[in-house]
Amino acid sequence: MQEMVHASVDAFSLQGKRILVTGASSGIGRQIALTCAELGAELVITGRDHVRLRATFDSLTGTGHQLVQADLDQQEEIEHLIAEANTLNGIAHAAGFSKLVPFRLMNRAHLDSMFSSNTFAPMLLTRGLLAKKKIASGGSIIFIASVASHIGPMASTAYAASKSALLGMVRSLGQEVAKQGIRANCIAPGYVRTPLLDGLQGSGGNMDNLFELTPLGMGEPEDIANTAAFFLADASRWITRNYFVVDGGLTIPMDIYA
Ligand SMILES: NC(=O)c1ccc[n+]([C@@H]2O[C@H](COP(=O)([O-])OP(=O)(O)OC[C@H]3O[C@@H](n4cnc5c(N)ncnc54)[C@H](OP(=O)(O)O)[C@@H]3O)[C@@H](O)[C@H]2O)c1
Repeated sequence: MQEMVHASVDAFSLQGKRILVTGASSGIGRQIALTCAELGAELVITGRDHVRLRATFDSLTGTGHQLVQADLDQQEEIEHLIAEANTLNGIAHAAGFSKLVPFRLMNRAHLDSMFSSNTFAPMLLTRGLLAKKKIASGGSIIFIASVASHIGPMASTAYAASKSALLGMVRSLGQEVAKQGIRANCIAPGYVRTPLLDGLQGSGGNMDNLFELTPLGMGEPEDIANTAAFFLADASRWITRNYFVVDGGLTIPMDIYA
């Protein structure tokens, strides 16, 4: 385990840390990258869309950042990213996608693509980085899961399953990397205002009732980025194999007699 950091402000700083953020070209991943840079980190950002990825890169505070364009559904592009990245102190796996498909219309191709991006890509990227010893002792790995695993939204069976898999994975991974002083945790967001959510609504998903059910209302990317920053900082040095829900209170059962 890394050395105890006593000064309370230093424990929350990301100064001197290099952090890889996937999905940095949009939404939650983009904001995680911006927040980490503001807290002093050097970033390695990745995504598929070069124009949007470059826009994130140009908005990062500080210097020494790296940009690596990669489609994480392609194993050779995962390998390329691993080769390009300098030694890391943290990884935020935010890349992922969702698509509303009723269970009766679900097929092998849909399952393959959902699990490829949401489950296999973060696992294989982490595995490759560990094999090449690119994650320093004291490092922190976070996987963005989803409260879809808790509330089971309509037409989201493959998405919920692909995100639920991250929970089982992180419990086991956390055991395996603890001896190297590395931590692994999931963060499960509720409904956060991003292009992904706009896309689901645009494709016919009616989520207004879920937004209304969220006691604190809709989340913003900053709400997840601030949580991610805590999990990437030394302040969370004793937290691993955890599954942390950030959802404005959506998944906590409400008092029906109130
Ligand atoms: N928004 C929500 O309400 C919500 C709730 C719970 C969980 N989440 C999770 O949070 C994460 C971020 O979602 P978001 O809402 O920020 O969505 P978003 O705005 O659509 O961003 C998704 C990001 O993932 C990247 N990505 C997707 N598939 C990829 C692949 N195969 N290879 C490389 N990059 C890939 C996209 O890259 P390009 O754009 O460059 O293609 C983009 O940067 C996802 O894992 C999502 O499941 C979101």
